Amino acid sequence: MRKKIVAGNWKMNKLADEAVALASELVNIANDEVKGDVKVILCPPAIYLTTLKKYIETSPNFALAAQNCSDKASGAFTGEISAAMLQSIGIEYVLIGHSERRQYFAESNELLAAKVNIALENGISPIFCCGESLDQRQNEDYIGFVKNQISESLFHLSAEQLQKVVIAYEPIWAIGTGLTASAEQAQEMHAALRAHLAGKYGSEVAEEISILYGGSVTAASADELFASPDIDGGLVGGASLKSREFINIIKAR
Ligand code: 13P
Repeated sequence: MRKKIVAGNWKMNKLADEAVALASELVNIANDEVKGDVKVILCPPAIYLTTLKKYIETSPNFALAAQNCSDKASGAFTGEISAAMLQSIGIEYVLIGHSERRQYFAESNELLAAKVNIALENGISPIFCCGESLDQRQNEDYIGFVKNQISESLFHLSAEQLQKVVIAYEPIWAIGTGLTASAEQAQEMHAALRAHLAGKYGSEVAEEISILYGGSVTAASADELFASPDIDGGLVGGASLKSREFINIIKAR
């Protein structure tokens, strides 16, 4: 049985006291209200990870992710954070290949493959993000495009390594736009990606990989999205910054 996962990507938001307030509020409310087997992964700015660890440790459902890591092991790379550093403070997940990193920091499929490798070498599970632009959806083989992102960044992995990866499908046209993909559009892509994984690794492995949907997820849209057979939870941006809204998304099924 694959895990239901709801991850909150805070992006470059929240000051230190606000980050502590949000994390502690989420843990407190979730301890009261969230029943069942759901993993909640908070992805705050890296500067807050050590502090927030203390707050989330009181809940077995919560974990932390960094929003990025370097593809290099260590050395003269000013401003970068290594996967080994994340491991040294007990971080379990890292977002790799978010469309904002691909777009603003020119991260290629090849570079992302290196980041996936170094995360796994350090015992950290990559949450690998993929997704097409509006132009690609309208004018190209958009499913083929996203399948290729996965082939180029993940298909060098062994089945055992792949099973540590979470995939997040985030159509770029739905990110921060208020325009959520319909459950049918998301399910179409998720099923195609699972079939793509099955083609390479076999259906038993593919069935175990959690594939999250991201892009303007709200409490209002989460129920229908998460009820789709191949959607195993969400990667939430804006709506993860408000405790009540995010808790309602965590509770959606
Ligand atoms: P929004 O939920 O704000 O559209 O952001 C989605 C996202 O990019 C999560 O990684």
